[in-house]
Amino acid sequence: MEMITWSNDLVIDNGLIDNQHKMAIYIINRFIEMRRHFRSPAQAIEILDTLKTLTKYHFTYEEEVQRKINYPLCDQHSKMHVKLNKQLDQIIAKLKITKGENLTEISMETGKYLKRWLVNHILVHDMEMKPLYSK
Ligand SMILES: [Fe+2]
Repeated sequence: MEMITWSNDLVIDNGLIDNQHKMAIYIINRFIEMRRHFRSPAQAIEILDTLKTLTKYHFTYEEEVQRKINYPLCDQHSKMHVKLNKQLDQIIAKLKITKGENLTEISMETGKYLKRWLVNHILVHDMEMKPLYSK
């Protein structure tokens, strides 16, 4: 699995949102890079916790901006954010009980899931609000 590469196709606001997305890509790429090399579940959880801290901040910011610009799909969009957070909590819970035996398997799956989620979310869902940002 390749890492996520930032490109102009991912640009949403030429500002804070893009910077936060770049940070998310950086953290997910770190996870992808490490996914076969974690020596304990705690190491994987550490990266996921960092991602959670970022997404908490980023989703709040993005939703605030959406409300300001009266984005009509605000509620639907927020539900997707909630779903990712729940998913992250579930993965972390799973990692906490593995004691290491399925660590690589879970990490491979998680890397794939996070990459797919983020790229799809930016390209499809965040992109839908791009015209409103540029107004
Ligand atoms: Fe979003």
